[in-house]
Amino acid sequence: ELGYFTYDPGFTATASCSSAITFIDGGNGILRYRGYPIEQLAKQSSFIEVAYLLLNGELPNRAEFTEFRKDITYHTMVHEKLNNFMAGFHYDAHPMAMMSGVVGSLASFYHDRLDMRDPEQRMLAAKRLIAKMPTIAAACYRHHMGWPSSYPQNRLGYTERFLDMMFSVPAEDYQVSEVAARAMDLLFILHADHEQNASTSTVRLVGSTGANPYACVASGIAALWGPAHGGANEAVLTMLEQIGDVSQIGKYINKAKDKNDPFRLMGFGHRVYKNFDPRAAIIREAAHAVLDDLGVSDPLMDLARELEQIALKDDYFVERKLYPNVDFYSGIIYKALGIPTSMFTVMFAIARTTGWVAHWLEQSANPTPIGRPRQVYTGATERNYVGIDNR
Ligand code: SDX
Repeated sequence: ELGYFTYDPGFTATASCSSAITFIDGGNGILRYRGYPIEQLAKQSSFIEVAYLLLNGELPNRAEFTEFRKDITYHTMVHEKLNNFMAGFHYDAHPMAMMSGVVGSLASFYHDRLDMRDPEQRMLAAKRLIAKMPTIAAACYRHHMGWPSSYPQNRLGYTERFLDMMFSVPAEDYQVSEVAARAMDLLFILHADHEQNASTSTVRLVGSTGANPYACVASGIAALWGPAHGGANEAVLTMLEQIGDVSQIGKYINKAKDKNDPFRLMGFGHRVYKNFDPRAAIIREAAHAVLDDLGVSDPLMDLARELEQIALKDDYFVERKLYPNVDFYSGIIYKALGIPTSMFTVMFAIARTTGWVAHWLEQSANPTPIGRPRQVYTGATERNYVGIDNR
């Protein structure tokens, strides 16, 4: 009785659901995970603590946090046979194509022993996915680079371990930068969950059929890949490089306003926020701090700031309440951390896996009828068949 269908003239009939995980007030730019404002979590928490909060509904005490972190750390390895799977991809396969394939295949290694009726086993599957996503993501990057596999160093923290798996090479010592690990942790907190966005709704819809959690997360990865969704962070960098310099901003703003031009200002606009995306403001400040701390100056940062200032004064964007969203500045930080553009959406997927599995757990604990969005039929009315020679 909690599911209901809403239909709006935009032809997006959406199945809504009830959830206690994330609250968004799009008109006032409010985002809370389990009631805690994103601004406070960004400043005071850590990604693993936020993951515990999203999965369990409460912040952990010290013993609960230590136990949870140990569980996540214990499951960072993947089956060695997955390396054979990875070896089959072309060297320049898009990492999101690899992620969706490899994550779905985890079911063949771990699902057959999973009793989905048992809440503890469901929680184990959720932790496994949170633990293994960075390992698989780093393997995708290393496959592309032609580097040997790397293995998780469990003495490191979650983001340090990921950066070590990404960038360490056998030939030399690799020291993870504290600044980079902290910046990555912040970005993972900000991307962890976001209510019923397209990829999370996909995970819930697939989950409502009773599909296993690995298949559900693989479907979320596929949905996130789209440039209108998680693929936007990659598209923002491409757009900024296309604009090139401040003198070209006016030309591209006009292109974004031209209905006959498919160009959109990537990283701008949102289905729900008709005010500032609170995550964008936090990431903009972090981008400045990370570039300063790393001693990196990126002309794209200045270009992004100028573009934002000009767009926010333009009637077209003001009337349509189009503000920078979470993707507008995140790519600039990823770039400063040495993450290649093709891996930006993979970063989003690592973080959002926590939200996806939190929603999968919530729905699995309170089974709802199989999701079944309806449609507005706009096709032909009833008519009789005509033989081919009479058409
Ligand atoms: C994410 O749902 C989530 O929560 C997603 C997300 C999450 O955490 O999971 O927040 C992550 O996906 C953020 C969005 C990333 N995508 C982009 O940055 C791509 C660029 N943005 C657009 O494609 C667009 O803004 C969407 C897809 C995000 C929303 O598109 P809608 O639903 O069409 O936006 P809208 O209904 O509010 O549009 C109103 C008007 C339309 O023009 P009119 O028909 O009224 O004349 O604004 C226009 C749109 O054409 N418009 C844009 C625009 N976004 C909307 N025009 C130019 N550039 C843009 N970016």
